Order: sequence, then structure tokens, then C-alpha cells
Amino acid sequence: MRFESKLPKVGTTIFTVMSQLATEHKAINLGQGFPDFNPAAELLEQVARAMDEGHNQYPHMAGIPILRNEISLKMKAMYGHYYDADTDITVTSGASEALMASILAFVKSGDEVVVIEPFYDLYIPAIELAGGLPVIVSMQAPTQDRPQYKVDWQKVRDAISPRTRMLIINFPHNPTGINLQESDLDALELIVSETGIILLSDEVYEHIVFDGKQHQSLARRETLAANSIVVSSFGKTYHTTGWKVGYCCAPKELSTEIRKVHQFMVFTVSSPMQVALAHYMKDPAPYLDLSSFYEQKRDRLTRGLANTRFKPMPSQGTFFLLADYSEISQLPEAEFARQLTVQHGVGVIPVAAFYQSPDSSESNHRLVRFCFAKQDQTLDAALQKLALV
Ligand SMILES: Cc1ncc(COP(=O)(O)O)c(C=O)c1O
Repeated sequence: MRFESKLPKVGTTIFTVMSQLATEHKAINLGQGFPDFNPAAELLEQVARAMDEGHNQYPHMAGIPILRNEISLKMKAMYGHYYDADTDITVTSGASEALMASILAFVKSGDEVVVIEPFYDLYIPAIELAGGLPVIVSMQAPTQDRPQYKVDWQKVRDAISPRTRMLIINFPHNPTGINLQESDLDALELIVSETGIILLSDEVYEHIVFDGKQHQSLARRETLAANSIVVSSFGKTYHTTGWKVGYCCAPKELSTEIRKVHQFMVFTVSSPMQVALAHYMKDPAPYLDLSSFYEQKRDRLTRGLANTRFKPMPSQGTFFLLADYSEISQLPEAEFARQLTVQHGVGVIPVAAFYQSPDSSESNHRLVRFCFAKQDQTLDAALQKLALV
């Protein structure tokens, strides 16, 4: 066969590899980010009802109007920005499709796209498929005095050239658990006003923000909203990662282009799920209560890790936390994660996997990522094993 791979560097993702390893060795899987519990019974009943009531054929290409309307109301209530349900909101096959469609819609061959490292694994292959060139800006890694990752916005600004088409950001951030503060929005406003680039903002963990803080969505500032594609995922919000329903909000000119790609990539998204989500979303309580639900789990895991030789780092949001294992081992992260899974029965993800060069020493800080979207008994069972490491 005569073909050349368009993504020669892409193999099976680390999440799949580590999950398979965890299954093979009957390890407790705190690696891949998905809940090990069911969504609310009421939401499941809504899906069954939607099917019974005949919502089983192709829905509207951009998403069913009542769902787009609920998303519009939520964005206005939470962040103060009005997105027109007809023109500015597109329901997608998970956040993944929203991200991919946005990148394919705007990035042309030779365009640069700035990505902040560590990063979620979809961004770089999507940019490369579009023929674009990723420009990576590394966060400052944690230090003894500042046990948290940090973005240097001046470095981000310096990476933007006339060839830059887009800046991708993701807060609350996977894997580091850091959030945006108001001062970060100020820095982003400056970048946008100086450069006019499009911001692609992956906000899938928007409803999981801890310690009484608020999520700093780009939709909170008019100048940012006018230049941004804000992406979210019902999978993270309603414990339905397997449904693959998400959405993106962007001004009409941007949404029009995104929909052109969406139309031919998937055309539309599962009809009964959309109907169910539209009804379920009318009550804000489930997403407003999500932060405290996960904060208890973060605290349970943090407290438990304090009794082990792992050093948990603060997590401000998401359902992940990082832990330092330098007291236990000097192995590179991938090897340590493998050893932890195989020999100690707990699956985790090496943070280096979120770097462009996972094997280099600059990407290895002896950190692994734990997912705490798990039942308390799962977390406790994992902690018992971790105490023996
Ligand atoms: C940062 C980030 N973006 C996007 C996604 C994908 O979301 P979805 O499952 O809705 O496609 C994930 C899932 O893990 C994620 O962590």
C-alpha cells in the first residue's frame, strides 16, 4: 500500500495503555479520568423517556434547540455573557469533537498554534492534522517553595508571531489542577488586544473548582468572549463520559465555521441524550453542587496520601491531583507508574505523558496524576495499597 501516515508519532494513548495495564494486573484504576459510579437516576430516566417519546432520528445539525437554549441560559447566569442559541452554540460529540472541529476550521497549513505544556493529548495531533505547527510554551514546574505549576503569560505572549492563528488554553487544568485567577484574565485580555488571535478555551472542568473559588471562564470578559471558543463537556459535569456529548460557544462568525466542520465530521449528536440533558439542565443544582461533591473526594485522597510516602500537591479544580513520589523512587515517571500498577496494584498516569517529549529529563519531575472521580471505597482501597509503597 502506498501511503504515508499523517500522524506518524501517534500511538495508543497513555490513558488506554495504563487502563489496559491496570485491568491486566487487576489494579485499582486511578489513572484514566472517568467516574466509577453512575449518573443521577433522574437523568437516566429522562433518556429512556426521550427514546419512548420518539426522539430517535437525526436531530438538528447544531444540536436540539431546547438544549442550546438551556446552555445559553446557563452561560448568561454563570458568566454574564449572552450567547445566541441559534447562532453561537453548537452541541458536539464530546468536548473532543468541539476542539477538533475548531482547530480544523481555523488552522491552515503552516499556521502556528500556541499550546501550553503540560497539555491534554488531543491538541497537538489535531493541529498537525490541520497542517499547523504547534508552538509549545512550558509552564513553570513546581518547586519546594511553590508546590504548583504556573503559567508565565509573558512567555506565552512572546511565542505569538504574525503566523499564530490560535492559542489553546485549558483551565481548570488537566493534569495540574490549577485554575485561572482574575489576573490571568487580565493577561489574556492584553494578549488578545495586542494580537487579535483566536483563543480556544477548553473548560471541560468548569464546574469542578474548589475552596469557594469561582471558575474564571473566558466568557466572563467581553473582549475575551468576542475572540474565544469556549468548550465544555456534559461527560465531566454529569458523570456521563461515555455519552460523548459536549458543546462549544463562540461568536456567530466563529461558530459558522466550526459548524461547517461539525456538519461533515459527525453531522449531529445522539438525539435522546440531548433531549434528556436539556430537561435535566433546567435545574442548576447538580452542576452547582459538583464542586463540593468532588472537593470531599479531593480531601479524602489528599488526607490519605499524607499517610504515605507520596507528597500530594494542591488541586484547585478538575478531578485530578498530582503527587510527588521522590521519597519513594528516582525512576522516570512512566516507569514508576508502570511499577506502581504492576507491583502495587494502583494505576496512575505519569505527568510526563502530557509533555511533548515524555522521556526527557525536563518533562520528568517525579509526579504522577491520580483521578479521584471514584467511589469513596475505591479511593480507600487504593490508599491502603499506597500506604505500603
Ligand atoms: C482537558 C480535557 N479536554 C477534553 C476532554 C475530552 O472531553 P470529552 O470526553 O467530552 O470529549 C478531556 C477528557 O478527559 C479533558 O480532560
